[in-house]
Amino acid sequence: MDKFIITGGKALSGEVVISGAKNAVLPIMAASIIKPAIYVIDNVPDLRDTKTMIKLLEESGAQIDFDNSLLRIDSTKCDKPFAPYDLVKTMRASFYMLGPFMSRFQKAVVSLPGGCAWGPRPVDFHIKALEKMGANIQIKDGNIICSGQLKGTHIDFEKKSVGATGNIIMAAVGAKGETIISNAACEPEIEDLCNFISLMGVEIEGIGTDELKINSLNSEVDKEIHYSVIPDRIEAATFMILALITKGNIVIDNINIKHLDIVIEKLKEAGAFIDILSQNKLHVKYSGNINTVDIETKEYPGFPTDIQAQWMALMTIADGDSKVKENIYSDRFTHVAELSRLGANVKVRDGVAYIKGVSQLIGAPVMSTDIRASASLILAALSCEGQSSISRIYHIDRGYEDIERKVIGLGGDIIRVR
Ligand code: UD1
Repeated sequence: MDKFIITGGKALSGEVVISGAKNAVLPIMAASIIKPAIYVIDNVPDLRDTKTMIKLLEESGAQIDFDNSLLRIDSTKCDKPFAPYDLVKTMRASFYMLGPFMSRFQKAVVSLPGGCAWGPRPVDFHIKALEKMGANIQIKDGNIICSGQLKGTHIDFEKKSVGATGNIIMAAVGAKGETIISNAACEPEIEDLCNFISLMGVEIEGIGTDELKINSLNSEVDKEIHYSVIPDRIEAATFMILALITKGNIVIDNINIKHLDIVIEKLKEAGAFIDILSQNKLHVKYSGNINTVDIETKEYPGFPTDIQAQWMALMTIADGDSKVKENIYSDRFTHVAELSRLGANVKVRDGVAYIKGVSQLIGAPVMSTDIRASASLILAALSCEGQSSISRIYHIDRGYEDIERKVIGLGGDIIRVR
């Protein structure tokens, strides 16, 4: 199994170009099933998760070419609405196949995703909503077996869910009549999915808000659809934090600064100098101190849970005590024990991490437990005195394109050992 050897202590500087958003491209790829057509999608990151989604689409009969961030999907011959366990178990986002399969085929067999490293992650919102739209659902041999012509109705989610909102938008395209979704997730990745689906000839009102109205597919639309995926705000935030944690100076390019408001605000509070160079580019620079800043994770536009671990890494060397409260996944703290191996002082109680800043982290062997936890360990290791090794880095390869090339480009000392 690959691992990273990182020698820390250098101030990283230079320019980094951010890739397309993982959490946007995965539902967009799944959505290509809905309407038989050819899709040409640009700014697609080359990730393990992208490859898993390619396999899922191929399994259902799609033909795919992927080269140099350009993805071509021909979904005209898809005929098998089945997502098998061996793929679903490696990536929860495989569950995004459910909505598109129901839209196009009025049936779907999708393996249940199970738990994940930071506890149970239910799919009850997806299932209840599909039932309300008229689907017959059974669970057999670990699969969800779903069938029936869906009908447009009013879905009011009890809590905002990115995955359930995405799945029901995609299911609604093939439903008869209008579907209204209240308390929809407003994440930029959902907005991107809506913009993509609109190109199929679907009318969606309220894009970017928590109330969406989706009408059925109008089939009189082009056979070839072109789209470019939004930049990855989570990868961008990770590199922004890298600038501060290594006391460096980094220009971050190919971003959408509007998606990063809360991260910009919190990094400024933490003492970073941030210069907005354009709508797509900014400069983050250490300016002499890392101040303590408490955060709590919330749905967009709040502080993303996917940046909680990286923020905690930063706070471990801040000037005093701080708190990180996790509201989305109360057990999402597997990185704490690993950061502690590097000398961090963090105690977790009732979904809150209490962090006492130390003046310096010291290199040690540590282990990745999930995508964002791995990112936090890379950030921490790059700020450490001495050498660290990070094992199980297949997690990072799921969600960060070419991370070592990007870090080396900024002057970081990171080697992949196979
Ligand atoms: C997506 C992101 C993930 C991010 C998360 C929260 C993708 C591929 N993944 O995951 O990176 O961390 O949003 O921003 O985009 N819930 C239920 N029942 C459900 C569905 C969700 O109780 O049926 C709960 C979850 O346990 C969680 C909350 O709702 O507490 C939000 O989860 P959700 O937004 O659905 O996360 P994902 O879509 O799985």
